[in-house]
Amino acid sequence: MKDALGSVQSLLVLGGGSEIGLAVARALVGERTRRVVLAARDPSRLDGAVEELRRLGAETTDAVAFDADAPDGHHAFVEDVFGRDGDIDVVLVAFGVLGSQEELARDPGAAAGVALTNYVGAVSVTTAVVERLRRQGHGTLVVLSSVAAERARKSNYVYGSSKAGLDAFAQGMGDSLAGSGVNVMVVRPGFVHTKMTAGLDPAPFSTTPEAVAEAIVGGLRTGAHTVWAPPILRYVMSVLRHLPRPIFRRLNI
Ligand SMILES: NC(=O)c1ccc[n+]([C@@H]2O[C@H](COP(=O)([O-])OP(=O)(O)OC[C@H]3O[C@@H](n4cnc5c(N)ncnc54)[C@H](OP(=O)(O)O)[C@@H]3O)[C@@H](O)[C@H]2O)c1
Repeated sequence: MKDALGSVQSLLVLGGGSEIGLAVARALVGERTRRVVLAARDPSRLDGAVEELRRLGAETTDAVAFDADAPDGHHAFVEDVFGRDGDIDVVLVAFGVLGSQEELARDPGAAAGVALTNYVGAVSVTTAVVERLRRQGHGTLVVLSSVAAERARKSNYVYGSSKAGLDAFAQGMGDSLAGSGVNVMVVRPGFVHTKMTAGLDPAPFSTTPEAVAEAIVGGLRTGAHTVWAPPILRYVMSVLRHLPRPIFRRLNI
């Protein structure tokens, strides 16, 4: 439950090793969040992050096992995490894979793997999360979509289409929850300098995990349903979205 000043008390990060996810955790702990659960495929790799969040002021920080690619276990996973220590105010979906478009265009298994993690896995776990948030009567689900969801580009259409599916799902889910006390916030970052984009040429308006985290914390404060990071991308994408296909296709983006 948020405290008397409206601060988030507890946070669950799905994809707990995500650089954006950890930046959000650090920013929220700086704003009085006291309990953080980091959920990752290999929680033992998060010892350093757990230690850092404790040093920054979190009273309880745990790393637990979670695999987005194993939907059969998602219901039990969510029940277990929420059952441990009471309510969770904010659940952040921060897992995701980008892949190499060149490889994905030729390898059906690899292309399906991106869709499984980014879309199927997210649909499955957020369905379980929202059911639990409904029962507790409050909470915000924050979903890391992408500007890539706005319009599939030839240079990363596998990733972009998986995010488009997730973005549409999260919007519809958010609308279905109006009046329930549960909110869904869709976040659309542009190019963020993290391990996911290491070695790639930065796109225009590239940004940092810390700046995305600041935008997310601001969105939580105001109860936003959509956050762009940086905000100018909202206008850039609304132009790109309406370009005729023959022109869009020729853009080197
Ligand atoms: N970086 C960008 O430019 C950018 C832009 C827009 C949106 N986003 C989105 O923002 C989110 C966070 O990205 P990031 O930049 O912080 O990337 P990141 O540091 O590479 O984090 C991605 C995380 O996803 C986890 N993951 C991958 N597959 C998983 C699975 N099957 N189950 C559980 N966890 C899994 C990875 O865990 P492991 O450590 O186990 O591999 C990793 O910790 C992603 O959804 C990404 O698509 C990123």
